[in-house]
Amino acid sequence: MREGFHKGNNIILTGFMGSGKTTVGIRLSYKWKKPFLDTDQLIERREGRRISEIFAAEGEEYFRGLETGLLEELAEGLHHHILSVGGGTPLREENRRLLSRMGTVVYLRVQPGTVYERLKGDTTRPLLQGPEPLARITELLDQRKDLYEKGADLIVDVDGMEMEEILEKIIRWIDFSRSTIPMNEQR
Ligand code: S3P
Repeated sequence: MREGFHKGNNIILTGFMGSGKTTVGIRLSYKWKKPFLDTDQLIERREGRRISEIFAAEGEEYFRGLETGLLEELAEGLHHHILSVGGGTPLREENRRLLSRMGTVVYLRVQPGTVYERLKGDTTRPLLQGPEPLARITELLDQRKDLYEKGADLIVDVDGMEMEEILEKIIRWIDFSRSTIPMNEQR
């Protein structure tokens, strides 16, 4: 965290497609009784179409613009939320800065094989629709891993972990950092 940089009180979940951001986010939101939001869902609702349709009609850059625009808005007024963001959100420096300002960024780190098993047959992720999804996942993860790590306050390796273990890790860490991050109001 930068010096003199005010950190918000949201919990933000980042990670590759299929890392479990939405599931973890919903579970944390039940546990902490805090509202849950997902940027992909917000974008789809606003645009009135699926992400795959946005990619097909307007291209990836247009979608990335929507993501950044939404984060700018959320950064203005979101408090005490659990927020999950699209897998590509932390790629832009600007987005990483906004996320960091909004709260504690938890990166769910996942291996390519796990993503492949979880998303086999999925048709909703335009970036994985090619003929060799495992190779594509491996390539994208390789390109992105440093940026995910750079933008994270906490990294959780999720491969082979039960959901409860993942939640426990996050909760324990948030409890631990409560003295430096004003999280006590979150519980
Ligand atoms: C993307 C991840 C997707 C969605 C879009 C692009 C990415 O979100 O934002 O298909 O670039 O990794 P999920 O991570 O929720 O699948």
